[in-house]
Amino acid sequence: MSLRDLLGLMEKRKEVLHVKDPLSTSFEIPFVMKKFDKEGPVLLFEKVKGFDVKVVANVFGTRRRICAGLGVDQERLYQRLTEAWASPMKPKIVSDGPAKEVVEKVDLSKFPFLTHFERDAGPYITSAVVYAKSVDGKVDNVSVHRLQVLDRNHLAIRLVPRHLFKLWRMAKKAGKNLDVSMSLGVHPAVLLAASSPVAFGACEFDVANALMRNGLRLVECEHVNACAPAEAELVLEGRISASKEVVEGPFVDVTGTYDVQRSQPVVNVVGVIRRRDYVYEGLLPSGAEHRLLMGLPHEVLIWESVAKVVPKVCAVNLSLGGSGWLHAVISVEKQVDGDGKNVLLAAFAAHPSLKHAVVVDPDIDVFDPCDVEWAIATRFQAGEDLIVVKNVRGSTLDSSADQETGLTTKMGIDATRPLTKPEEKFERAKIPTGKSIETVARRLHSL
Ligand SMILES: Cc1cc2nc3c(=O)[nH]c(=O)nc-3n(C[C@H](O)[C@H](O)[C@H](O)COP(=O)(O)O)c2cc1C
Repeated sequence: MSLRDLLGLMEKRKEVLHVKDPLSTSFEIPFVMKKFDKEGPVLLFEKVKGFDVKVVANVFGTRRRICAGLGVDQERLYQRLTEAWASPMKPKIVSDGPAKEVVEKVDLSKFPFLTHFERDAGPYITSAVVYAKSVDGKVDNVSVHRLQVLDRNHLAIRLVPRHLFKLWRMAKKAGKNLDVSMSLGVHPAVLLAASSPVAFGACEFDVANALMRNGLRLVECEHVNACAPAEAELVLEGRISASKEVVEGPFVDVTGTYDVQRSQPVVNVVGVIRRRDYVYEGLLPSGAEHRLLMGLPHEVLIWESVAKVVPKVCAVNLSLGGSGWLHAVISVEKQVDGDGKNVLLAAFAAHPSLKHAVVVDPDIDVFDPCDVEWAIATRFQAGEDLIVVKNVRGSTLDSSADQETGLTTKMGIDATRPLTKPEEKFERAKIPTGKSIETVARRLHSL
């Protein structure tokens, strides 16, 4: 299964907008990506100024497309993810694949890397899944990392201290560079698996293969000790330097603000494998696709944690307004007053970057900000239903937090109806309806 298979499906569903105007990789393509962000179509830029390559973007930019890509309905989406996390399947390693149609020397100036925002340091690769094996050969890891293009054969890689960072530190301690493959234009299930918080030691390619119902194949790289999806569009092969670092950034991260600049390792790109007519995949930093890919796996963690403290979880939304990362709305059926606050505590424990959370009753649509605000307006009393926790570890991406230590203040809002007051006080007033008036209303609405 490949990105192309999915694009074929999206064409059939009429969800691809073909952009035929010649556009530049510097700001023009990202500007259009931003215009069509949030519920927008897949974008296929057919003419890229200065390059004979197409650029595709916004592939997994909506929940609906994520479900279509995985062949699952919204109700069973989290279950598909948890099943894949619990039962990963080793993909078959094949000797050849479309990703190896061309094997070539490195010249990064040949690729249409995008420069997204005004103060960005320059072109960045934003859709790469990075595979590495530990130097002792025992652990494989796959994760998504932004890559700053430094020159014709060097990149800077942003490593948040997690699994790839750990593998790099292990290599550094052994005095070795760390071999990596950086694959672009993969089936988005691979991106979703790579941004899943599975345990150290579990390989996210195995998770992706389970998500794709054994549809993933891998090939060995040509220049480094690493593997990559056999149907990827483009694979950069490189080594994360044990000794060379640069100041990375400025760059806009998931919140839509400029991340702080830090010293980050340099990747020496040593070879390229690709499809002959490869399509370059762009991904808008802070766009809906970025937020969904990062947030969705954490919604699953929140769901699982909250399910331990109340009998029924109805929905979880790491909202786009909260950057898919900092704000959650959770709807539950509570049994007694006080359950709401336990839900908030469970959510904060499940997703340490979570900053503000709102818990609501099942009649509130967690995906509708107006509905959530209505619940806060009519069911919440700050003197009783608010939790504030100071000096707790949060996200370094939040400009209002201490971005060095990650310390922040968290707030939980219990906007569930108090069970001590009569239910009818909180009833949402309805207007009686019938078939004929519904038909009239529908017709008027469609005008
Ligand atoms: C589009 C996108 C960009 C990301 N960029 C980075 C990044 O630059 N650095 C980073 O450490 N994590 C980044 N992440 C998050 C990691 O890929 C994610 O947390 C992953 O689960 C980490 O993998 P690990 O559990 O194997 O450590 C990004 C995620 C997405 C979806």
